[in-house]
Formats: sequence, C-alpha cells, structure tokens
Amino acid sequence: MKPLIVANWKCNPASLKEGREILNVIAKDIESQQNVEAVICPPFVYLDILKMEYGGLVFGSQDCFWEDGGPYTGEISPSMLKKLGVEYVIVGHSERRKYHKETDEIIAKKVKAALDVGLKPILCVDRISQIPEDSQHLIIAFEPLSAVGTGRPYEVHEAAKMYSSIRQISGEETVILYGGSVNPINASSYIKEAGFQGLLVGGASLRPKEFIDIVKAACYSE
Ligand code: PGA
Repeated sequence: MKPLIVANWKCNPASLKEGREILNVIAKDIESQQNVEAVICPPFVYLDILKMEYGGLVFGSQDCFWEDGGPYTGEISPSMLKKLGVEYVIVGHSERRKYHKETDEIIAKKVKAALDVGLKPILCVDRISQIPEDSQHLIIAFEPLSAVGTGRPYEVHEAAKMYSSIRQISGEETVILYGGSVNPINASSYIKEAGFQGLLVGGASLRPKEFIDIVKAACYSE
C-alpha cells in the first residue's frame, strides 16, 4: 500500500488566494509522486473551488455531519462532500473533541454517515479506548494530545508501541496514521521505524516546501 499523507489545513489560510498559493507550489510535485497518496483537507469554503482548479489532487474534508441533509443549520452532509468529488473525511479530530465537545457517540455517527456515502473516514484518536470495535474499514490516525500543534513530536519508539496496540485491536487491514508535529526530519521514522502507513500533517502542510519534503520522505521510506 502507498503511504497516505494527509494535509490538515485546519482553519487556515486566511484567504482562498493564499490557499491557491500553497497548491501552486506543491501540486506538480505531489502529482508526480506516484508512490504516495497525498490528500489535501482545506476549510469547507475553499474545498469546492480548489477541487475544480486542482483536479489532479486528492481532497478530503476536515469534518462532516452525521445526517444527510435537513434542518441542521451550519452543517455539511457527507453526500454533499461526495458529490463534490471529495474522497476522505477527517472525523473526531482532538480539536473538535475539545472545542465542539464531540463525544465518541457523535463521532461514531459521523463515521457511519461517511461510510454510507462512500467517503473514507480518517478517525482521529489519542487513546485506545476511542477505537470502535468494528474498525477494519477505517483509517485510524493516532494523534497524541501532547504532540498535536505543539512542535513536540511523540517519541518514535512510544509511537511504535501505540501502533502495535492499535494494530492488535483493529486487525490487519486498517490503515494507521501518525499525526502530531510531523516535520520533514521525523516523517520517515514514523513510517519506517514505527510502522505507520502514513501521516496526518497539520502546521507543516501549510508550508509548501516542508509538505513536499514530507511527501518525498514518505515516498522513500517504503
Ligand atoms: P500538527 O497537527 O502537525 O500541527 O501537530 C496535526 C493535526 O492536528 O492533525
């Protein structure tokens, strides 16, 4: 399987123009890396237009709702995303658990809704108890809270232990990612040494050169 490298832009950049500037730098390089699946997850408001303008890239969203339409002010349904050509959806990110009080029950409903329309959910967890029983069809991103957005990446040998525990619970088919202060220097060790199938990249995904270097590092760490 190709390593999966997911760019989580979070609530950035401040304008569509700046989003285009990032993609203008990275698009060609990313498209030419045949051995890596790179996924760009911009804010919802840029998703449609960037998907149209950069058709060679793969896109994901940072969240979705659990119902497929109806009186839910402010929400975006999984089938709306699917119709835009979005392939992946990040669900249960620690920032949504923290600031939006998303619980495992809410997140499970979102995962199911995403799977129902054929989106590939990337379920973020920071502990084993957040992994559902039936997780073999999921992509699980292990994101330790101490490492997310802090510039303090998790020790690779500690990440390797978590990887084994998640693998035991989830079964052989689950794709397991590491996320948390990934940078071009540590990227390959999470894949090569700890065994992860890819990375969820926040801050560094907004810095085009760093993101390209992470994608290349993943490509060569197979
Ligand atoms: P970070 O974010 O790379 O900035 O630590 C990762 C994430 O939140 O997915």
